[in-house]
Amino acid sequence: MHPSTSAHLFSTTPESVATDFRQRFSGEPLLVRAPGRVNLIGEHTDYNNGFVLPAAVDHAIYFAVRLNGSRTINLVSHDLQETLSVPLDAVQPSDHAWANYILGVVAQLQKRNLPLEGFDCVFGGTIPIGAGMSSSAAVECGMAFALNHLLNLGLERMELAHMAQKAEHEYAKVMCGLMDQFASLFGQANHVVRLDCRSLEYAYFPFDTTTNRIVLCNSGVKHSLASSEYNLRRQECEQGVKILRSHYPNISSLRDATLAQVEAHRQELGDVVYRRCSYVVEENERVVRACQHLEAGDMKSFGQEMYGSHAGLRDKYEVSCRELDVLVEAARTHRGVYGARMMGGGFGGCTINLVAAEQVESFIQHMTAAYQQQLGLPLEIYQATIVDGVGLMAPKA
Ligand code: GLA
Repeated sequence: MHPSTSAHLFSTTPESVATDFRQRFSGEPLLVRAPGRVNLIGEHTDYNNGFVLPAAVDHAIYFAVRLNGSRTINLVSHDLQETLSVPLDAVQPSDHAWANYILGVVAQLQKRNLPLEGFDCVFGGTIPIGAGMSSSAAVECGMAFALNHLLNLGLERMELAHMAQKAEHEYAKVMCGLMDQFASLFGQANHVVRLDCRSLEYAYFPFDTTTNRIVLCNSGVKHSLASSEYNLRRQECEQGVKILRSHYPNISSLRDATLAQVEAHRQELGDVVYRRCSYVVEENERVVRACQHLEAGDMKSFGQEMYGSHAGLRDKYEVSCRELDVLVEAARTHRGVYGARMMGGGFGGCTINLVAAEQVESFIQHMTAAYQQQLGLPLEIYQATIVDGVGLMAPKA
């Protein structure tokens, strides 16, 4: 990320968003906070109906929103200081990428024939863009939550998550799974949440970030390939399912496949699709084991699953990049680290590191020096605490 962007980003507060609203519009806005997320383990498994283990974190998007009694939506990106007004009957994908996450949600409400009204909205936040912390899902989920509240639509959180996901598909053209939107809406303070993306059942696991710190190392890399490669991975997995299903009719997603079945059809799958499938099946197994380690308080074994996840993402799923690999290898040599891996869609963004609290300062120094030494690059590092999912904020004077 460009340093000046990040400086501005981190100076955004709920108050500065609310003040911006009051200066531009009339009336008192509703204030909503929508968190970004981390994912401990379970990457590229969500759209394969598998398991994920995310948590909502204290980097968030803040919204000030109010119905304006007209048929027009007035949007302000507080961080970019850009505005866009769109008549309700002309909602369509915009050239302003930031607006699409909001317009995409409005379009979903319209598709369901829900009664809409014009509104004024200022939003901004502290989730670094392109860092793999799901700023886009936070924008979608916060907007869906705010409109659900203001218009009394009575939609449940799971419905909001699905609408936000569809907004991403149709307006941002990324065929994402449900993890990011689910995490932003269903996060619970001091817990990680395991979602079974097939049944949509979920379970919370206590996670104490005061003893085991979640530290994110931002590679600063934002590959333009990310969304096209993401959609390609999805297709490769679908090809794998098609072949496997021709042998095992009960397989309707990679979640239903075993490693033995994937191995048995290695030839027919072909090298690339075979590796994609085998990664996904193994990653689901890693999530299940990781949760057992968490329950047993065995952070060391949990960390080993994270390293396993990274190796799979790098070698079999091929969504890592040199910068992320350097960060994970550097983390591995520090004694305070339980585990590290790339996080999110890949091709850049952050690594997630689990670090013993008393070792964090030394870890930060170690990583900063290693990244500078090996790649000549500066490293942004964030520590994350785990917070509740999307919710209302009390207005401040
Ligand atoms: C992105 C997507 C998610 C998920 C991850 C990879 O964050 O939005 O749905 O697929 O990548 O795990």
